[in-house]
Amino acid sequence: MTRHEQQSRLSNVARVDSFSRDTREFVEASMRGDGCLVRVTHASVGSTDIMARRGDYLLHPFPGFVSGYDFIGIVEFIDRPAQSLGLSVGDRVAGVLPGMGAHATRLRVPSSLLVPVPDGLASEDAATLPLDGVTARHALDLLKPSPRALFINGVSGAVGLLAAQLAALDGVRVSGTASPASAALAMQYGAATFDYGDTQWPRQLLDQVGKVDGVIDHTGSRTLNSVVKRNGRIVRTAFGGPVGHQKAATAAGFAKTLVQRFAQPSEVVCSTPMYVAMKRRSYRRDLTKVLELADSGRLKPLDPVVYDVSHYREALDAAGQPASGKKVVLTFGE
Ligand SMILES: NC(=O)c1ccc[n+]([C@@H]2O[C@H](COP(=O)([O-])OP(=O)(O)OC[C@H]3O[C@@H](n4cnc5c(N)ncnc54)[C@H](OP(=O)(O)O)[C@@H]3O)[C@@H](O)[C@H]2O)c1
Repeated sequence: MTRHEQQSRLSNVARVDSFSRDTREFVEASMRGDGCLVRVTHASVGSTDIMARRGDYLLHPFPGFVSGYDFIGIVEFIDRPAQSLGLSVGDRVAGVLPGMGAHATRLRVPSSLLVPVPDGLASEDAATLPLDGVTARHALDLLKPSPRALFINGVSGAVGLLAAQLAALDGVRVSGTASPASAALAMQYGAATFDYGDTQWPRQLLDQVGKVDGVIDHTGSRTLNSVVKRNGRIVRTAFGGPVGHQKAATAAGFAKTLVQRFAQPSEVVCSTPMYVAMKRRSYRRDLTKVLELADSGRLKPLDPVVYDVSHYREALDAAGQPASGKKVVLTFGE
């Protein structure tokens, strides 16, 4: 094996070896499998990474995984299907990994996970978009036919701000919850806001907006059922729960949502990892569209807060206390 081949099989990865002692260091690991070789230049750090790294994430109940759902990178080697997808060596690409693993210097991934990044879009801005943008798009599509009035529980968050903008582009009237500290920002993105800390918010929503056709929720709250029309729908992206008990909350919320599939209002789960794993073409279409909208200025990405990978600890700390409108982005060097 040549030196180049050996090097291209190694990657420095942020592997979670233990939930009780999160080392937060990168370690060298060999890459398995075939597919395109991508040198990662940027990767986001979001709330799901923090949850997973402390052992609170149902999709990674055991240590031994690498955190990071999405990335921007440069293609160094292509697999056979890449050409038919229009990908070449040297292309700047974006992707979401269905099983995490993006906090790494290099990745081996099937070309079907990759889409080109438009030339005009800066990599740090693009890096804020793949997971949250695809989640926002997918959640909206699960509400189809498109609601006339949409309520987003957590509209000031990363997924919420992107969903609010995508819905507004479709002509949907958007409202949602936010803390008083981030309400002004959510309003700038076009959403009427209600304080989730005020128990009267459902009453205020009904008075000011009336019942809505669709809800995107990340808390599993049953209160939301009272603000949706009977023929409306609630899309659940997460199920909340106290820190340390979020796996159980997710399992219970997931089961409850499945049971409510044919209730009125109906409920569905939005899982982007499952979507990416099972609906590859739709995922690529959604990610391509989100990046194009950002490139054309019609979708405003969150403001990237960039950390060099040598400051991984600080990046994780910052992502653990997310500032509204901002997203932590790791940079590995262009
Ligand atoms: N299903 C999927 O595939 C998928 C994909 C991505 C993310 N997620 C999950 O979706 C959730 C949201 O992600 P994100 O990245 O948008 O998170 P985020 O940026 O941390 O935003 C959280 C949002 O929730 C609001 N919030 C906080 N406490 C709340 C409460 N008690 N009631 C209602 N809203 C509250 C926050 O408002 P303030 O900031 O104003 O306090 C903010 O708007 C997370 O649980 C994440 O793990 C799921």
